Amino acid sequence: MEDTESIPASRREQQAARFRQLTDMAPDTPMGQLLRQFWHPIAISRNVAPGTARAVTLMGEQYALYRGQSGQAHLVTNRCAHRRTHLHTGWVEGDQLRCMYHGWKFDGSGQCVERPAERPGTHAQIRIAAHPVHEYCGLIFAYVGPGEPPPFDLPRKPRFEQAGVLLFQRQEIWPCHWLQHAENSLDAVHVSFAHQMGKVGAFGHAITSDIPELAYEETSSGIRQTATRQVDGKSQVRVSDWTFPYGNHVVLPGVSANDPWIESANWMVPLDATHTLRVSLRAVPSTTPEADEKLQRYFEDCETYDSSDHHDALFAGRYPDDPLVRLTSAQDYVVLVGQGAVADRAAECLGSSDRGISMLRRILWREMEALRTGAAAKTWARQEQVPTLFQYAESTT
Ligand code: FES
Ligand SMILES: [Fe+2]
Repeated sequence: MEDTESIPASRREQQAARFRQLTDMAPDTPMGQLLRQFWHPIAISRNVAPGTARAVTLMGEQYALYRGQSGQAHLVTNRCAHRRTHLHTGWVEGDQLRCMYHGWKFDGSGQCVERPAERPGTHAQIRIAAHPVHEYCGLIFAYVGPGEPPPFDLPRKPRFEQAGVLLFQRQEIWPCHWLQHAENSLDAVHVSFAHQMGKVGAFGHAITSDIPELAYEETSSGIRQTATRQVDGKSQVRVSDWTFPYGNHVVLPGVSANDPWIESANWMVPLDATHTLRVSLRAVPSTTPEADEKLQRYFEDCETYDSSDHHDALFAGRYPDDPLVRLTSAQDYVVLVGQGAVADRAAECLGSSDRGISMLRRILWREMEALRTGAAAKTWARQEQVPTLFQYAESTT
C-alpha cells in the first residue's frame, strides 16, 4: 500500500483531477453530460397537487415543477424570461404558469403565451426551457438532457407493476454528494457494521453481522452485487440489481418478524454538489386488510422523517426507535454524512471488499471517456429477468 505522502505532487494532482471528474455535475462537465442522459426522479407525485408549483433543484440547476389543473405535471426552468425571477412563486392557470412579477405566462412546452403589459401578439418569439416528465408508481421523473429522452425503461421494475402489491414512496435530503450514497449501495460489508450500530433493528437482525463473501458483475442495467452470509447453517444470499447511474434495487426484511419482505428501489438524486435527494419506492405484497392498514400507517408515520433533521442527535448516538426504515436511514446518514459533504477520495485507502466501489468508478470513467471521444456509450437497459434478490440455500461450507 502506497503512503499518500510518498506520491509525487504531479501524480496527486492528476489523481485529484480524476476524482473531481466523478463529483462534477455542471452541464459542461463529463459527469454532468453523462448524468443528463438519464431520467431522474424529482418529486413524489402526491406532493404536487393540481394547480400548484414548486422549486426543484437538479444537478445544481433550478426548475419549476408544476401540475396543471388537468393533472398533467410540467417542468420548466425556474427563471422567468423577462426579469429572471423565480417562476414557481407565481400561479397555475389551467395548464400554464404565470409569473408573479409582471404576469408573463408560459405553457408546459415553455412557450410564452401572454405578456399583459406588452403589445398584444408580441409573445410568440419568447420561450423558456421545458423538459419532459414521466410519472411512474407515484414518482415524478424528469429528463433534463439534450435532445429526445431515452425510453422510460431503466427505472422500471416488474415487481412495482404487479397487481396485488402496495407501493410506498418516501424521500429524504441529505447534505452530502450523491456518489457517497451510490458507493454505499455497492458496499455490502457496511451492513454488517453500520446497521448493527447504535441499535439493531429488523434489518440488522435479518442480514446479521457475518462478513459476506462478495461478487460483482456488470449487467445490462448496472451492477449485480451478491453478498453471501452464513446464517444458522445456511447460506443467505442477498443480491442487488444496482441500476445505473445511482439506483439501488434490493429487498429488505419486513417491519416485524413474519412480515413479508419488502422490495425496494432507491435513487440517489444529485441536487447539487453537497445535497442528495434519496427517493425510495417500496413494494410489499398486499395480504389482509388489517396487515395492509398497519403497513399503510407505518409508512405514513415514516413519511416526514428525514435523518438530516436529527443530525446532532444521530451524531451523538441517539437513534430512532423505529425498527426499520427510520433506523436504517439514520445509520446510513451517520456514515455517509460523516465522510464530509464531498468525501476526500484521494486520502482513502480501499481494500478488496471495496471492489464494488472500484467497479462503479471504473464504469463511470469509462462512460465519461466514451462521451468525450464520441465512442459508443453503453445503452443501459432494464433486465428482463430480475434475479432473485434474496434466498437461503443449504450452506456449502
Ligand atoms: S419577471 Fe416574470 S413577468 Fe417580469
Ligand atoms: Fe445501509
